[in-house]
Amino acid sequence: MGRILVTGGAGYIGSHVVRQLVERGETVVVLDNLSTGFRDAVIGAELVVGDIGDRVAVDALLGTGDIDTVMHFAAHTVVPESVSNPLKYYGNNTCGTRSLLAACAEAGVAHVVFSSTAAVYGMPSSGVADEDTPTLPINPYGWSKLMSETMLRDLSAATPLRHVVLRYFNVAGCDPGGRIGQNTPNATLLIKVACEHAVGKRPGLAIFGTDYDTPDGTCIRDYIHVEDLAAAHLGALDHLRGGGASTTLNCGYGHGYSVREVLEAVQRISGTRLDVREEPRRAGDPPALIARSEKLAKIFGWTPRHDDLDVIVSTALAWERTLLARGVR
Ligand code: UD1
Repeated sequence: MGRILVTGGAGYIGSHVVRQLVERGETVVVLDNLSTGFRDAVIGAELVVGDIGDRVAVDALLGTGDIDTVMHFAAHTVVPESVSNPLKYYGNNTCGTRSLLAACAEAGVAHVVFSSTAAVYGMPSSGVADEDTPTLPINPYGWSKLMSETMLRDLSAATPLRHVVLRYFNVAGCDPGGRIGQNTPNATLLIKVACEHAVGKRPGLAIFGTDYDTPDGTCIRDYIHVEDLAAAHLGALDHLRGGGASTTLNCGYGHGYSVREVLEAVQRISGTRLDVREEPRRAGDPPALIARSEKLAKIFGWTPRHDDLDVIVSTALAWERTLLARGVR
């Protein structure tokens, strides 16, 4: 059993995966440039501060020869920013991944687990996507990830490397143990924004679009608890170490909630009346995006343990209160 290199392991999702890997007895080294990650989010693993595009740093890590798996989270993830600054996304997400994959190929890394996104599907007409739904991103973030998926697919076809691509739907919630959470400054994600407002860090929030063709007029998303998503990565590791073939899998629960339903849950659980404005649609938002994730359950034997909006919101809210108590604005 080799060591695992986790890029972006000081970030929101990566840090939850690192924690679960370490709890299971894996030896993990994290590579993170701390641009959006946090040193103290890395629990139980060595942290190397550096960039995925820095071949000297990456080659030094992989040169030890005992890393069998690279889990690659490091990326920019803010969709509206990818629209205004696309080259930042193609540079870090796509070119950075290319550099990392070249290093993996040269070092003979056996497995790569890659963090992809539901944004690769764009706007599927039914609002539901399985892994064979055509990919047609509607923003540079989605394209930057799809290009990385493509490189990985082609590299796996040409070399012994095998991979798992995980396409995340809307990741939310935090470690139920309260140790780590989502720290992103200037967050744009709905549950994070709503919880920040509920604890008094924001004066209010907006619903972007109330005229969608959905039951209550607001967008529907498939919110997956970060702990269940992290568990899927451990499944991917076991699959690859067990000799499983390269594959691409959706990570979601297969059902969704509207923006209004999410805000009602935050209001009810926080006991705070939210100050909500109704604003026009935000560019690039599909009306509904829900995963078909039977493949994940079938191949990895993955069973969600936190498929409950109240649990997602409660853990996100608890984390926001922890940050407030620590004086993090
Ligand atoms: C997007 C990406 C997703 C990516 C995620 C994180 C798409 C289709 N999805 O999710 O792949 O992983 O970003 O970068 O590109 N909303 C409000 N008010 C707010 C914030 C959000 O009404 O203050 C609404 C949005 O308009 C949307 C829903 O809430 O309808 C969810 O938005 P958000 O949490 O930002 O995630 P996505 O855009 O769905």
